Amino acid sequence: MVKYEGKVVIALQVNGEAHEVAVRPSDLLLDVLREQLGLTAAKPGCLNGDCGACTIMLDGWPVKSCLMLAVEAEGHVVLTVEGLNGTAPIQKAFVDADAFQCGYCTSGFLMVCHALKTQNPLMPKENIIEEWLQSNLCRCTGYQEIRRAVRLMYEST
Ligand code: FES
Ligand code: FES
Repeated sequence: MVKYEGKVVIALQVNGEAHEVAVRPSDLLLDVLREQLGLTAAKPGCLNGDCGACTIMLDGWPVKSCLMLAVEAEGHVVLTVEGLNGTAPIQKAFVDADAFQCGYCTSGFLMVCHALKTQNPLMPKENIIEEWLQSNLCRCTGYQEIRRAVRLMYEST
């Protein structure tokens, strides 16, 4: 980590590409992704860890990027919805299950569901799926369609 005019330069991998970005020690990972790297899929919602709209994947696990400083991501592997390239099974499953309405929560749900599949390649028990989905909030769908999308994701692969 190199110090530079009150900022530090961090190196991290985002969506398969190596990046070096100059950040303030207090910058949130969410803000650096959106404002410096132009990756706006992760959304600012509550900014206190409750809603999950800002969820990204870090080293294969879902992380709320509003709760993480960018400097903490140095040397780690970040994946955002942009890195799914429209080809992840959960993306088709969300469309097929009509699992979104306004869409504000969708990026976060896609990442938590994609992480669920990454960590549990075979369909987990219902209670495990419920536990993972509890990290994110949706104001529109009522969750049934999101649960259906998760099942479709597993059934399609
Ligand atoms: S914006 Fe991060 S959890 Fe709500
Ligand atoms: S689709 Fe609107 S908040 Fe989830």
